[in-house]
Amino acid sequence: MGTEKEPIGVIGVGWVGLCTAACFAELGHDVVARDILPEKVESLSRGEVPMHEPGLPELVSRNAERLTFTTDMADVLDRTRLLFCCVDTPPTYSGDADLSRVEAVVDELGDSDEHAIVMKSTVPVGTGRWIQRKREGLGYVSNPEFLKEGSAIKDFMHPDRVVVGADEHSEAFADRVAALYEPLDGPIVRTDVASAEMVKLASNAFLATKISFINEIANVSEELGADVSEVARGMGLDDRIGPKFLQAGLGFGGSCFPKDVSALKQLAGNTGYAFQLLTSVIEVNDLQKRRAVGKLQKHLGSLVGKEIALLGVAFKPDTDDIREATALVLAARLQGEGAHVRVYDPVAAEGAREMLGGTVICESAAEALDGADAAVLVTEWPEFAELDWAGDVKGRMAQPIVVDGRNFLDREALREAGFTYEGIGR
Ligand code: UDX
Repeated sequence: MGTEKEPIGVIGVGWVGLCTAACFAELGHDVVARDILPEKVESLSRGEVPMHEPGLPELVSRNAERLTFTTDMADVLDRTRLLFCCVDTPPTYSGDADLSRVEAVVDELGDSDEHAIVMKSTVPVGTGRWIQRKREGLGYVSNPEFLKEGSAIKDFMHPDRVVVGADEHSEAFADRVAALYEPLDGPIVRTDVASAEMVKLASNAFLATKISFINEIANVSEELGADVSEVARGMGLDDRIGPKFLQAGLGFGGSCFPKDVSALKQLAGNTGYAFQLLTSVIEVNDLQKRRAVGKLQKHLGSLVGKEIALLGVAFKPDTDDIREATALVLAARLQGEGAHVRVYDPVAAEGAREMLGGTVICESAAEALDGADAAVLVTEWPEFAELDWAGDVKGRMAQPIVVDGRNFLDREALREAGFTYEGIGR
């Protein structure tokens, strides 16, 4: 390893692992990234990036010399001391986090006091304590990630904060981890392990609460004649509230919010504490995902035999991630009501084919809108705002009805063009 900078080990090369590996390489570190899947390691070694994340392919190719991919844990242990654990912790049926992949990593690491696990994976509060009991020699640092899909590279390079949690015997490792982030411009927050774990879960649960809150304000605004966009603008100027995460819509999805909210609720439940607020956050979100159905029925009556176009499948734009995506819930619900559903997404539809069973997957927005009785905008991909709604789209649709699930389209222009427009909360 040619540089003086601390070499970095990354274990688990999914989205978090690859973003972390590429960003540390960009900061000048040699990085050895290990995954158990040989095909994945081979394709990464050829420079192929298997996920949609703006800027990531460029970062991987620019730093190819500093980035090594391997299946061999011994190689990682040999060449690096700080082992960033980035394996996934998917939800189980009960809402707990499934820690089997984390456990498998811990089992492979042995007990060397020269190495430390640096936990990036989102884990329940208490996981660090459990691992440290199991592997007393090994160092342990909690360093949760706060990357948003679609802006992960920017989030890594310009963090709002970096959280580094360690207990007494791992303080020296924590110093080394904190030093890695010193070239970046965000504050470094040092805590104990359990608090660092809680910062991650509490942050995501709070943001999810903010979204469910504004969605309920939206639903009530519809009834009372207020416009949630105006309400959010007025609220957001209060410093204590802030303008972000006040965008009403068809509920939150993705790999983090739904999982982390359930995990925190479950974790509290395990101690005998009923986290009632989070129960509501989840319920409100589930109902919100189906809200477009009622809006369609308002204008179409029964949906039996109606052709409905869903624009967008990804849980948000700039990603091909369909985990907990609203479109999946909505498509199933619409089919349950007897509608024929066609979906289009610029990148995410193909990957969703199995989960979208019974729907027609279209190659373009135009194809999905052809002969449709109504369109629902589910994901705010910029190309949907650029469609020629007044001309081409209106000409294609059987009925000009649009449910704008993200308040993203030009409402006035659509109404002027003769569309029946339904937003969320306005
Ligand atoms: C989130 C956190 O933001 C990030 O810090 C964490 O590490 C992982 O989880 P991500 O899941 O990539 O990131 O997406 P994010 O951009 O935060 O959006 C989550 C969901 O909330 C999306 O479905 C989005 O459409 C929705 N959302 C977001 C709203 O409905 N309204 C808003 O105002 C903001």
